[in-house]
Amino acid sequence: MLLKSSKSLTTPFLFLFVSLHQTFSHPTVTNHTWQEAFEVLGIAWNPDGTLNRTILIPMVDPTPDADSEPTPIALSQDIYLSPYSKAYVRLYIPVDPPRDRKLPLIIYFHGGDFVLYSASTAIFHNFCNDIASQFPAVVVSVEYRLAPENRLPAAYDDALNGVAWVRDQALGKGGSDPWMEYADFSRVFLLGSSAGGNIAYHVALRVLDFDIRPLQIKGLLLNQAYFGGLKRTQSEIRLIDDPYVPLYINDVLWSLALPKNVNRDHEFCNPISGGTYLGRVFRLPKVYIKGDFGDPLVDRSVLLAQYLQSCGVPVYYRFNPGGGHGNELGNRTAAQQLYDDMRWFVNDLHSNLNSGDVLSSLKSEDQSSDHASY
Ligand SMILES: *[C@@H]1O[C@H](CO)[C@@H](O)[C@H](O)[C@H]1NC(C)=O
Ligand SMILES: *[C@@H]1O[C@H](CO)[C@@H](O)[C@H](O)[C@H]1NC(C)=O
Ligand SMILES: *[C@@H]1O[C@H](CO)[C@@H](O)[C@H](O)[C@H]1NC(C)=O
Repeated sequence: MLLKSSKSLTTPFLFLFVSLHQTFSHPTVTNHTWQEAFEVLGIAWNPDGTLNRTILIPMVDPTPDADSEPTPIALSQDIYLSPYSKAYVRLYIPVDPPRDRKLPLIIYFHGGDFVLYSASTAIFHNFCNDIASQFPAVVVSVEYRLAPENRLPAAYDDALNGVAWVRDQALGKGGSDPWMEYADFSRVFLLGSSAGGNIAYHVALRVLDFDIRPLQIKGLLLNQAYFGGLKRTQSEIRLIDDPYVPLYINDVLWSLALPKNVNRDHEFCNPISGGTYLGRVFRLPKVYIKGDFGDPLVDRSVLLAQYLQSCGVPVYYRFNPGGGHGNELGNRTAAQQLYDDMRWFVNDLHSNLNSGDVLSSLKSEDQSSDHASY
């Protein structure tokens, strides 16, 4: 499944960024077609309704041995969840896990707009390696089915299955992987970037229907979570031709991801607009939210943060000026800031993080722009 990448293997994401940028640097970009969006995304319909995906981001195998070359910073293995499906999790531990204490357990959902990528995609694999080694933590990265072959809520279902697998590991049902010895099942966090942030949020609400003891979900980490809605926000309008997530591409991706015949105010896309799960938001654990004002999606995160606060959920956040969608994947400094924040959050070092009134503190941070529509 290794995708060919002829140019730079070290910064594969730049491919996507560069090609998008070239396509949209024209001063007047107003009309776009599905065909254009499909070309930019490197996807094509097959007659049977499946997609070919040709974006050149490599997939990588796990690294189960410390002796591998180059020396790994974390160990990983793929565990298949059922003989009847392709579902798997990629499990990570630090190379040299501490023996005197258990590690927080991070359940991770990768990005890719629900349509692209995998837990094995190099950029997300590297992200999990970083988290496992830096926090340190046991990380379970859940492979989930993609749209449009499997529209939402398929990804949520698979993500929930991943959580159920972790619970069964804790209970020793059908045996436990020896690496799970390092995990503290009473300190579980759900973490997602972009579409993975959306998945983490929905899973946190859905899991309330299930008995997941002895797991205790202590927090959610939402990095540039991928939400939307019918009414454009100020940041979406301001950054309509953003090179990383131009709005028309976004619209196409949502129409591939959402169930047929629902619009972008459906709760899968715009969870604060209504829906089945709204009434239980107050039961969520603490939430870390990270956004960048250079990302068209940022206002969605601001709105969510404000909504969660209004429901009494403890919210810790960072909203940076500048930046862009996915910037931690190609920028070491941005990545390190995110890792530090998340490590503080997981270890209850809240004084290092922003909290309190999201709206007023953001106004003073970002006076130059209206950051959200109300
Ligand atoms: C956009 O589409 C409209 C209607 O299809 C057309 O009249 C107009 O010329 C197009 N504008 C550009 C900039 O292509
Ligand atoms: C998708 O890929 C397959 C195998 O490479 C190829 O035969 C098919 O023509 C492709 N479909 C489209 C729509 O490009
Ligand atoms: C990388 O991220 C840092 C911190 O967000 C930022 O200050 C810097 O300008 C970024 N570098 C590039 C090349 O975008």
